[in-house]
Amino acid sequence: MNINLQLQSVVNVEADVLVVSLFEGVTELSGAIGAVNEALGGQITALIETGDLTGKFKQTRLLYSFGKLNAKRVLIVGLGEAVEFSSNRARSIAAIAAKSARELGASTLATIVHGAGHGDLQVEQAAQVLAEGTLLGLYQVKNLKKHQAVAKLTDLIVVESAEANQAEIAKGLEIGQIYAQGTNFARDLINEPANILTPTRLAELATDVAVKTGMGITVLGEAEMRDLGMNALLSIGQGSDEESKLIVLSYYGNPDSEEVLGLVGKGVTFDTGGYSLKPMAGMENMKTDMGGAGAVIGAMQAIGQLKPKANVVAVIGAAENMISGNAIKPGDVVVAMNGKSIEIVNTDAEGRVVLADALTYAIEKCKVSKVVNAATLTGAISIALGRKLCGMFSNDSDFASEVKDAFHSSGERVWEMPLVEEYQAAYSSNVADMKNSGGRDGGSITAALILREFVDNTPWVHLDIAGVARDQEGGGDLNPKGATGFGVRTMIELALAQK
Ligand code: BES
Ligand code: MN
Ligand code: ZN
Repeated sequence: MNINLQLQSVVNVEADVLVVSLFEGVTELSGAIGAVNEALGGQITALIETGDLTGKFKQTRLLYSFGKLNAKRVLIVGLGEAVEFSSNRARSIAAIAAKSARELGASTLATIVHGAGHGDLQVEQAAQVLAEGTLLGLYQVKNLKKHQAVAKLTDLIVVESAEANQAEIAKGLEIGQIYAQGTNFARDLINEPANILTPTRLAELATDVAVKTGMGITVLGEAEMRDLGMNALLSIGQGSDEESKLIVLSYYGNPDSEEVLGLVGKGVTFDTGGYSLKPMAGMENMKTDMGGAGAVIGAMQAIGQLKPKANVVAVIGAAENMISGNAIKPGDVVVAMNGKSIEIVNTDAEGRVVLADALTYAIEKCKVSKVVNAATLTGAISIALGRKLCGMFSNDSDFASEVKDAFHSSGERVWEMPLVEEYQAAYSSNVADMKNSGGRDGGSITAALILREFVDNTPWVHLDIAGVARDQEGGGDLNPKGATGFGVRTMIELALAQK
C-alpha cells in the first residue's frame, strides 16, 4: 500500500472514501469534521441531532458527498469518550476504517490522523498507530487459490492542514509502516503451510531479511549443531526428513557497548507431537508452532530498518517434530549443549527441548547479556489466561519490568506468571538431570522452569504465546483469522528502549 501525506483541507482531497472521526458526545463540530459538515450543508450535525451518530467507540456512518467534496464518500468513525481515548483505540479505529473502505470497494482512502494531540497521544505516535492499524487491519492471508481476489485498496492519503505537524506525521507514518510490515511478515511466515515453510525455508527467508537490512546471518545445519553438542534441539528434528536449522540474525547498532539483547524463537515448523502423538482434530494448526520464530524474525526485519542504537541478536531453533524409524521415543535421554541431560518423557513437550539449546547458544556463543524467548510452548497457558494475553515468566524483576514497559508501549497484552520453585519436583528424573515435562498441573509453569535450567544467571524473560499467536475465530480489529504476529511490536519496542 502507498501511503502519502498531503498538506491540504479534507474538503479538497480526492479519494473514494474520506475518513473523519468524532469523540462521543461532541455536538459542536470543529476541525476536519467541522469543515466536512459545512461543505455537506450540515448533514453531520443532522445525524447527531437525530441520534444516528453519537461518536460511540467503533461506530461508523457513511455519507455521500454529491460533489460537495472531492472525496466521493465520507466515513465517520466514533472515537468513543475523549477520556477513554488511547493509542490502542486509535490503532483499532484506523483498522476498522480501512476495512470498511475496502468493503466499499475503495481504491483510495483519505484519512485524518485520528486523535492527534488528545490525551497523551502525541502527533507522531498518532500517525504511527494510524499506519499500523491500517496495514494490520487490511492484512489478508496469502493463499494458493486458483482465482485470487485482487485487493483494490492501494492508496492511503493522510490529510493534515497544519504545516507545523507535517514532519512529525511523516515520521510516525514511516515508523508505523515498519512495525506493521514486520508484523505482517511474521503473519505470512506463520500462516504458511508446513510443507512450504520448512526449517530450511525459514532460514532462507531470515537470510533475505539479513541481506535486505544489512545485518549478520549465520545458519547452522545438523552437522554443525552436532559438533557443538546441540543434541537436545537435534533430537526433536531427528524423525523428520527436513534438516533442522539454527538461525542466527545479528544486528550491532551500538558496537561500543557490550550489552546485547537476545531474542530467541521456537521454530517448530510442524508439531505432530511425535510418538506422544497429538489428537487429529486441529492438528493442522500446528503449522503455527513456529509462531515465536516468526515473531522474532518479523521484529528483526523492523529493527534492521529502524536501526536503533542497540545490539540485538536473534536465535531461532528450527525443527520439525515428526514420527519415523529415527524419531525420538519416550524414555530416551539426550544431553543438551550446556551439559544437562533431559529424559524425554513426552515427545510432544518438544518446544522446551529445542529452546534449551537455542538459549544456550545465545548465551554462550552470542554473548547476549539478557534474553527474551517467544514460544508457542503450552496449551495450558490459554487455559490459564485465555487468548488475549500472553504469559510471561522471568528470573529477573528489572528485566521483567523493562519487558512490561515494552508491552505497554506496543499495546500487546501480557500477564506475569510465577516461577513456583516447589514445582521443580514435578520434572525431576531418576535417569537424567530433568524430565522434559512436569505433567498437566501447572503445565505452563513447569515448562518455564525447565527453560530456566538453560539460562544460568542471564536475565531472561519467557513469553508463552501459545494462546495468542493464532486467532481461531478471526474478528479481532487488527487481524483476520489465522496468525496474529503477536510479539513483533513488543520486541521492536524492547529493542528501541535499549541504550
Ligand atoms: N506446540 C504445543 C503447544 C501449543 C498448544 C501451541 C496449542 C499452540 C496451541 C507444544 O509443543 C505442546 O504440545 N505442549 C504440550 C506440553 C505437554 C505435553 C507437557 C501441551 O501443551 O499439551
Ligand atoms: Mn508439542
Ligand atoms: Zn510445540
